[in-house]
Amino acid sequence: MAPTGAPTFMAGAIQSLIKTHYGLTGELSALASYADQNWMLKGADGTRHIVKIANSGDSKHEVAMQNAAMAHLAGKGIAVPHALRNTAGYDITDVMDGDGNSHFMRVLTYLSGQFYADTKAESHSAALWQSMGGFLAQMDNALEDFDHPGASRFFDWDLAHGYGICQRKKTALKADEAKVVDHFLDYYHSHVMPLLGGLRKSVIHNDANDYNLLVDSVDAPSAITGLIDFGDMVHTHTINELAIGAAYAMLDQPDPIKTLKAIVAAYHAERPLADDEFEVLYGLIALRMCTTVCNAAVAYAANPGNDYLLVSVRPAWGLLAKLKKLSPFAVRCQLRVACGLVSDTGNAKEDIIAYRKAHLGKTLSLSFKEPLKIVRGLGAYLYDEEGNDYLDMVNNVCHVGHCHPRVVAAGQRQMAQLNTNTRFLHDNLVDYAEKLLATMPEKLSVCMFVNSGSEANELAFRLARNFTGSRELLTVDGAYHGNTSACIDASPYKFDGPGGEGAPAHVHKVKLPDPYRGEFPGMGEEAGKAYADDIDRVVAALAKKGKKPGAYICESLQGVAGQIIMPEGYLKAVYPKVRTAGGVCIADEVQVGFGRAGTHMWAFETQGVVPDIVTLGKPIGNGHPMAAVITTQEIADAFVTGMEYFNTFGGNPVSCAIGMAVLDVIKDEGLRENALETGKYLQNQLRALQADFDVIGDVRGLGLFIGAELVTNRETKAPATELAAALGEFVKGERVILSTEGAFHNVLKIKPPIVFTRTDADRFIAAVSKGLKALT
Ligand SMILES: Cc1ncc(COP(=O)(O)O)c(C=O)c1O
Repeated sequence: MAPTGAPTFMAGAIQSLIKTHYGLTGELSALASYADQNWMLKGADGTRHIVKIANSGDSKHEVAMQNAAMAHLAGKGIAVPHALRNTAGYDITDVMDGDGNSHFMRVLTYLSGQFYADTKAESHSAALWQSMGGFLAQMDNALEDFDHPGASRFFDWDLAHGYGICQRKKTALKADEAKVVDHFLDYYHSHVMPLLGGLRKSVIHNDANDYNLLVDSVDAPSAITGLIDFGDMVHTHTINELAIGAAYAMLDQPDPIKTLKAIVAAYHAERPLADDEFEVLYGLIALRMCTTVCNAAVAYAANPGNDYLLVSVRPAWGLLAKLKKLSPFAVRCQLRVACGLVSDTGNAKEDIIAYRKAHLGKTLSLSFKEPLKIVRGLGAYLYDEEGNDYLDMVNNVCHVGHCHPRVVAAGQRQMAQLNTNTRFLHDNLVDYAEKLLATMPEKLSVCMFVNSGSEANELAFRLARNFTGSRELLTVDGAYHGNTSACIDASPYKFDGPGGEGAPAHVHKVKLPDPYRGEFPGMGEEAGKAYADDIDRVVAALAKKGKKPGAYICESLQGVAGQIIMPEGYLKAVYPKVRTAGGVCIADEVQVGFGRAGTHMWAFETQGVVPDIVTLGKPIGNGHPMAAVITTQEIADAFVTGMEYFNTFGGNPVSCAIGMAVLDVIKDEGLRENALETGKYLQNQLRALQADFDVIGDVRGLGLFIGAELVTNRETKAPATELAAALGEFVKGERVILSTEGAFHNVLKIKPPIVFTRTDADRFIAAVSKGLKALT
């Protein structure tokens, strides 16, 4: 069925029209067209013209704009057709078909050449791509001083509307296809949309695809000879021209970035790109392909038997799959370098180091002998200023992946609406609290929001003190709970470490339940109970002084103490002892919560206990500074003393929006399950490595919280501290970021973002294996 408004002129009628209005005669042959009628007119002298009759739905304004643009470009020497004037002097002729419908007729000059679409992908060369980049740039330069009211229109194929179009049409895709499209839409939303307002705009051709570009030869194309079909012209972001042209040229190319680099470099040489234009190219190319596949899916849904529609978009899916494997930032850096630009326009590393030393306090430390300048993050990867990717093995803060688009978008959206404190009613505060509490055991039903793990522990100590009337605190040897005064006082890692002043009088250390290096070996319940008995010693000593414990704080998995997994039954034995003595039990989940342990959302659950107070931080906001304290109704009530608890930023609408997005992503992407699966795989790989390298004394972990302890002697367990440091430096050369933990800094700290994959695990294992071979 012909599309609505399609003209239905017979050849004879057209011949007579062009004779009357243009004085032209010749043979007519029909050309393919969807909604219009196009014909080739061949005169007796061999001269050719294209006769176009527009759809009756087309606006004269827009057809006039196309003519004006073609005339403008042709006048500047760009190889495009232009419309002839009729005998009355106009470049559009109003004609009427047999049914009385009026149409616009035009006669265009004919451009000789072959269609790019008729060439084979294997025959495409750097010369062809460079020619294309140069052609598009010259055309965009020539269009810079062109404008026409007909170009300011809403148009489905304007990439500026691509996001909305795809959101609307992606419902026609299959579930797995929609997931791919969603990936790029999320990226576009968080990384491209914020830059759109600053992009240059102009009228562009908007459809330099392979059916509109002409080349010099079908077999060995090396140059673009012209461009046709101005029906998609629109006033929009100029960079879309390059994105669209490049997207089609990249189809079916084994290395599409090679193609892109050649096109972009040639474009940039003629028409220098702005910084933000480099930033958005990847996202725009992907969006164009998403638009293509979404439109095809909608067309297929309307036309279910037409398998050609599916076949024709196969190259688009192929390109999307290739793009998905690439880092947008690395692509952006490669494009800049291909254009002869530096990839980083910021401060030199030496200058940053010097300024830090002079003005940011000398206690700030830096990782690595030659510190890295990290400028981007995505998933489990960090990127330096040149676009090199580093697998991040240590960042337990950017939990659901660096800069997760949904988390970024949630923050951006709320940031643009409102950010204020909790003295006003706001849905986000209660919605988030409800969502978070739903993940906790029932008795933990009160939520208090703060800004950092330290602040959460500080508040936990105050809650405990108000509830129990005692400030005596039991803490596990080697633990770290934060940087405030009260937290340093609760952290043996700090008060027993360099610059520390030992435990304050109200703080009492209990043994670190370390199954590898501690007094009671193994993961069994015996060991757990034996360690728990150390509580009795402290409680008895306090009782002698007429005191009782106020709180016992314990990380649910020991981080800085050396990535330690406590033996079975440890907390189960400890908690009753503390409670019987009058204290409350605080679980510090700042490092290890939110599904990292794999089997459970909260690491305390792996010990089969329910704490009285839980503190949350780091992963809670995926890098956004926020934290929380969760407790029971009774403990929260005891805090009501008349003194208000006010926290300027805690629980603000932006933080809550971000916190909700983190919870949603963990659930929707099955990230706890991934932590379990991939964590097991990684531990097995490490164990296999342990069979080859005696220096790996122990491998332990839960989910994606893993430690590998390096020793110089498996019998004595003498720590291989220097080797661990050297290994960290070595794998940095393999672009893996690794650090150490533990009293002897000999435990490889493995706690990557939990989007970590098996491929990432293989990359890590290969780097460590290479390092150990070289260093031992
Ligand atoms: C177990 C634990 N608790 C508390 C904190 C303190 O958190 P923040 O640095 O957000 O104040 C940390 C930080 O490393 C931690 O590892």
